[in-house]
Amino acid sequence: MEGYRSRASYKLKQINEHHMVIEKGDSVVDIGAAPGGWLQVANELSKTGVIIGVDLQKIKPLEGIFTIRGDITKEKTKQKIRSILEEQGNGKAEKKEKRGGRIDVVLSDLAPNITGEYSLDQARSIYLCREALECALSILCHGGNFVVKAFYGTDIKEFLEDLRKEFENVKVYNPRASRKESAEVYVVCKGRLTAPVKVGDQMIVEIVGEGKRGDGIASIQGYNVFVPGSELGEFWDIKIEEVRLKFGFAKGMNKVENKD
Ligand SMILES: C[S@@+](CC[C@H](N)C(=O)[O-])C[C@H]1O[C@@H](n2cnc3c(N)ncnc32)[C@H](O)[C@@H]1O
Repeated sequence: MEGYRSRASYKLKQINEHHMVIEKGDSVVDIGAAPGGWLQVANELSKTGVIIGVDLQKIKPLEGIFTIRGDITKEKTKQKIRSILEEQGNGKAEKKEKRGGRIDVVLSDLAPNITGEYSLDQARSIYLCREALECALSILCHGGNFVVKAFYGTDIKEFLEDLRKEFENVKVYNPRASRKESAEVYVVCKGRLTAPVKVGDQMIVEIVGEGKRGDGIASIQGYNVFVPGSELGEFWDIKIEEVRLKFGFAKGMNKVENKD
């Protein structure tokens, strides 16, 4: 009655009400988009951004929306997404930091063909999630958002850990519009990290600044990392403990007396 192509539309609406994933002007790539319910909602929310839908199935034309028929696990399909982006320009992502790609939001409602054997279906769902993640990482801008459907189960834990290395904030969400008996959850990832370091990296740095609370600051390819206990002009062997969008935190392992 409301003109949406699938009940899935209401899930995306609820996800957005709770997590503010899509904002006006955002460019959005929707993977596993047929018949197009999410595309309709993404278009309503974004209003002016580029919207691209990809699916194995043909998506009936939707005004103002680009559609690609293809398999997201194939390089050819990813190349088609990139060529639309090149033609359409950067949109809002252009105004953000230089690191990262051109798309503000990647959505994946990908679902495998269900066999009924839960552990197999769950493993195939996580495989598709990882394919969607790989695609998202290649096109998302710095700070961009990613929403991915996954079947809940053992394999999800490791996937969530990997997502936490790539996004500032990762939450598992179960929209009311999902059927009660469904094993699906949506993982909402906000703030694509493009810092040149990852948690656990270890390196020697020079302390080139001082924060308001007196912590030393190292600059790694222009990305600031706070090193508590260090002082301006010192060299430290540090281990990255937390990576955020605009800055990170590291533990000073050892002060290096003679840098050479
Ligand atoms: C639950 S439906 C998506 C519904 C959609 N979000 C909507 O609102 O209308 C899942 C879709 O994933 C697609 N799909 C599954 N594997 C795929 C793949 N490897 N590449 C592209 N699409 C795929 C299926 O064809 C199916 O249309």
